[in-house]
Amino acid sequence: LFSVADAKAEKQAVAEEIKRLTAEVNHHNQLYHQKDAPEISDAEFDALFRRLEQLEARYPELALPDSPTRKVGAKNEGRGLATFAHRVPMLSLGNAFSKEDVVDFVERLQRFLSLPTMPPVVAEYKIDGLSCSLTYEHGQLVRALTRGDGQEGEDITANVRTMASVPHQLKGHAVPASIDIRGEIFMTRKDFEALNTRQAEEGQKIFANPRNAAAGSIRQLDPTITARRPLRMFVYAFGYASGDVQCQTHTDQLALMAEWGLPVVPDVKTFESVESLYASYENLAKRRFDLDFAIDGIVYKVNDLKLQDRLGFVARAPRWAIAHKFPAEQATTILEEITVQVGRTGVVTPVARLKPVYVGGVTVSNATLHNEDYIRDRDIRPGDTVFIERAGDVIPKVVSVVHEKRHGDTLPFTFPTECPACKQPLVRAEGEAAYRCLNHFGCPAQIEQALIHLVGKDAFDIDGLGEKQVQLFLQEKLIQTPADIFKLADHKQRLLEMEGFGEKSVALLLNAIEAAKTITLQRFLIALGIPMVGEQVASLVADRYHTLEALLRAIDTNTAAEELDLIDGIGPRIVSSVMNDLSRPENRSRIDAMLQAGVVVQAYRAPQARQDTPFSGKTVVVTGSLSRMSRDEAKQRLATMGARVGSGITSKTDMLVAGDKPGSKLKKAQELGITILDEDAFLKLLEGE
Ligand code: IVH
Repeated sequence: LFSVADAKAEKQAVAEEIKRLTAEVNHHNQLYHQKDAPEISDAEFDALFRRLEQLEARYPELALPDSPTRKVGAKNEGRGLATFAHRVPMLSLGNAFSKEDVVDFVERLQRFLSLPTMPPVVAEYKIDGLSCSLTYEHGQLVRALTRGDGQEGEDITANVRTMASVPHQLKGHAVPASIDIRGEIFMTRKDFEALNTRQAEEGQKIFANPRNAAAGSIRQLDPTITARRPLRMFVYAFGYASGDVQCQTHTDQLALMAEWGLPVVPDVKTFESVESLYASYENLAKRRFDLDFAIDGIVYKVNDLKLQDRLGFVARAPRWAIAHKFPAEQATTILEEITVQVGRTGVVTPVARLKPVYVGGVTVSNATLHNEDYIRDRDIRPGDTVFIERAGDVIPKVVSVVHEKRHGDTLPFTFPTECPACKQPLVRAEGEAAYRCLNHFGCPAQIEQALIHLVGKDAFDIDGLGEKQVQLFLQEKLIQTPADIFKLADHKQRLLEMEGFGEKSVALLLNAIEAAKTITLQRFLIALGIPMVGEQVASLVADRYHTLEALLRAIDTNTAAEELDLIDGIGPRIVSSVMNDLSRPENRSRIDAMLQAGVVVQAYRAPQARQDTPFSGKTVVVTGSLSRMSRDEAKQRLATMGARVGSGITSKTDMLVAGDKPGSKLKKAQELGITILDEDAFLKLLEGE
């Protein structure tokens, strides 16, 4: 018989094999990539790698932080930083801008948890820097990653090791076996001023604000440059943590991090009413510039970790936290001209060209005017003095006209009737605010914007290929469609003859393109530029289908519409946008052409859905009201137990959880012979009795 002792011994043996394989594969990777001197054949290497993958799949908790299987793509073959998958994704936060938003947040918490009063909420500075995840193994700093796209980040370990505020070794007695620490890298205002003075003296680049300076410093390929930059870090959360970390509350976590010698975000307070929470916000909004570091708001977090767990996530943001942003900053300046810009999807946006003005920490010379109605409603005219506003990282906008300063000779703006790029007539559809150029595949502006988007940071992220190069290559007719980018190597000779390109820069560019060909499904979906598909939606879609083939099959068999509609965070407008875009033959041939040109779309490595619960793989619908939790919480808990949560009863529904006053869904489920659970039966299954 297979005993507990045997199981333990086996696990021990696997742990040792994983350790050995990890070291071995890393060693051969280095020989191959950095030294160009492989010692084993590709087939032997693949065998080692696959064995490691298999063992890690069987015992995910034994995978080591420096496992080569966490490494995505092979960006270090070009000249960028290597990328690694986060063990726990790095999420974003929802925003609150007003008192009502904060009240809503607290009411949502209470409703979801069925609580009569507000649970204790912690308020922390929202540091305006760059988020970073530090991995400590047995107290030793082994890796630092940027947020990246939330699923995978760039390896900045060598750079972070140069920062005085980040300990290389944790201290104290309760140091865990393995933990990810999350925080923000930033620069103080004082250090930023001093850095810019030094940069000016040395004839180097001047940074626009502390945030840009920190960003430019941390993503250096040469850590000796980073070492000369005054970077700091504040930490505020755990990512992955091994089982030996015991905490009841968020403030416990902060206290532990402080004990380990980490620089914890200062001045954290706990509140028990919305009034006191809001009062502290108003107070801080006035004092924020007294701090020596930039903050762009306050983050509110439910303190109790059990409650955090119950609240869970909506799309990519936690339900248990929110960022309360400070009001936008305003300035006045002269609107010199209104031009229009054609975006990658054909939407034509009016843009205000401004006399440059300093607002909210940056110099602004362009601002959006949204659309025709926005300009007409505010009677904004070229030549006017206007108020502009900039909130955090949002694009600046023109908010109003200073009428007293208007000169007699200004004229209202008339929206162009034809596309400035391809001269086709612009169309404003019934019920829409935007004018569009419908010449999607023939309009040079749309072609250009789509290609710039494709090579951009959130998509293929090709080093050395930006707006300027795309424009140049288009002009030189080296590229026209997305696939052409991946065939640039065929034009090496032409590239070498172009001004500004030498042996070295061409080699770097072609290497970077080659390295970028391997891409995750999420990024590939972003790259396609489907309207309304950004980071969050792309990640939800990737999460649902895992592979490009599966997604396209679902589009072709028409099952995707219904399946996408069931995903929390994807609404009907997104569904039709995805369906329309991916069923267009022109778009499909573009995808095929990219694959032909060597693009490899990696399968999405989803966090393992639980396979061992009564709800695993089942489609479950919840209806009526439950007495011990809200319907939303019931859905959330089903999802974490591996269920697919549906909204309506169909022939594919496996179970219906029926609370009080279930209505028509119960009747329909009965007619279809679907398993029906009342609240008691549901709770029993949830709790595993
Ligand atoms: S907690 C799941 N706390 O804000 C919650 N984030 O808008 C994860 N940030 O990506 C974030 N200060 O880079 C948290 N005290 C703080 C923060 C903070 C700054 C950043 C962080 C995050 C972004 C979300």
